[in-house]
Amino acid sequence: MSEASTAAQSGATSMVVRRYPFDLEAALGGDWFGGDRFRTIIANALSIPLPSGERMFIRALRHYLDQIQDPLLREEVKIFFKQESTHTQEHVKYNRWICQHRGYDLAQVEAPYKDHNEYLCEHAEPRLLLATTVCMEHLTAIISHLLISEPAWLADAEPVVRDFWLWHSVEEIEHKGVAFDVYRQVIDDKGYLDEVMRRTVVQLAQNLRFTACQMYLMEGGRPRDVRQWLDSSPFLNGAQGLLASIVQHVDDFYRADFHPWDHDNRHLIGLVSNHLEQAFA
Ligand SMILES: [Fe+2]
Ligand SMILES: [Fe+2]
Repeated sequence: MSEASTAAQSGATSMVVRRYPFDLEAALGGDWFGGDRFRTIIANALSIPLPSGERMFIRALRHYLDQIQDPLLREEVKIFFKQESTHTQEHVKYNRWICQHRGYDLAQVEAPYKDHNEYLCEHAEPRLLLATTVCMEHLTAIISHLLISEPAWLADAEPVVRDFWLWHSVEEIEHKGVAFDVYRQVIDDKGYLDEVMRRTVVQLAQNLRFTACQMYLMEGGRPRDVRQWLDSSPFLNGAQGLLASIVQHVDDFYRADFHPWDHDNRHLIGLVSNHLEQAFA
């Protein structure tokens, strides 16, 4: 275990559940991301899997709760449950609003994720659920880091929607080591985790593209334009785009002694927490 990870674990009880009265409905009806329809759809597509995904993460960790010997880690897991439940509640509303205002069929756009996650919860072995959770948590932490540390990503978003994503992102950074630490204590098979990560990265990219296409078509985009529409935007597919940025940051994960807190970005937590406190003062 690296020094960074030891320090992070001992300091992580400062995790808190933040609740703010986000008033998103009006903004989510429009192209809130700088008036850019494509970027708005991609960002909204990231919200669709979250309710069913975060419920699965909670279930994955709950299965192992009694096997966690370290009281500090047990405490962190309980705060993780509260943070993820709050995220789920807020993204349920977010998803309902984008569907109501942009003409999506909620059941249809959610189905691939809901069905997959429910199938995993029902039939997969607990270690696969936990490994998937670790991988998704790491990918979420990478996106969160990008959004907070490179303000250009969200610079021209509607302030209320930007604050919403910053709020979710800061808690993802705060709890980024929790599922990993549980996995290390109860499973501790890095080879298996790496295997699951390889599949998860591919799935994330495919799912994001699929959901964005569904949304584009459901809001009236022409079927014959959809591929060109999807492939032509540097925001998703460019060398500095979202997918390339994620892949670039994932490489480190495959090191044998990797820990999420090797990349110590805790300074971002204070930054965003202060910003949100001021925004909602
Ligand atoms: Fe979350
Ligand atoms: Fe999370």
